[in-house]
Amino acid sequence: MFSPSLLGGDFSRAGAELEEIASSGADYAHFDVMDGRFVPEITFGAKFIEDLRPLSDLVFDVHLMIEEPERHIERFVKAGADMITIHAESTRHLWRALSMIKEAGKDAGVAINPATPVSAIEPVLPIVDSVLVMSVNPGWGGQRFIPQSIEKVQELDSRRSEGALRYLIAVDGGVGRRNIRDLYANGMDLAIMGSAFFAEDDRKLFLHEMEESLQ
Ligand code: DX5
Ligand code: ZN
Repeated sequence: MFSPSLLGGDFSRAGAELEEIASSGADYAHFDVMDGRFVPEITFGAKFIEDLRPLSDLVFDVHLMIEEPERHIERFVKAGADMITIHAESTRHLWRALSMIKEAGKDAGVAINPATPVSAIEPVLPIVDSVLVMSVNPGWGGQRFIPQSIEKVQELDSRRSEGALRYLIAVDGGVGRRNIRDLYANGMDLAIMGSAFFAEDDRKLFLHEMEESLQ
């Protein structure tokens, strides 16, 4: 499955970019929320997502790169997020923050930065709907994929089968033609793509080709 990231598009045309994501045949639309503290950049808040919500039936996959995400979860739920992913490094109360998302009836995701091992999130694996492996340092689109991320995908895949768990494995950062097959072969379910998706002229054809190459 594919979750194109709006961060790779032009924010002045956000509505049109979202429609472009929908017409490409993607399953999800990925929203990167940055607060200037957890990561240096600042992008947008809940209102941006709320205003785009009526334009699409896609699953809204909201990636919170913000400190103490528990302070904002309710607001993003109200804005129309379907899946909310928070960083293990961003809160002292990870279990509680994930439970808040679940209690709101939304899918809860946990993300780990490149320097955070999978073992750091082991206790929450049974309660999450997805795990996002950051394969670049969070904060910017268009960076180079960190190859060691593949080992984390493998580890998450084995822990999932050993523990009879059901989370999706998502990979975010530098994902594209060069590594997508390898990532799928190692257990990735959801490819998040910003620059690779928006760099293509024909996005529908691109996702179709990616899908074919995975058969
Ligand atoms: C980076 C974001 C990503 C970003 C990926 O911090 O979390 O979602 O949009 O962009 P690419 O695919 O260009 O690396
Ligand atoms: Zn992201």
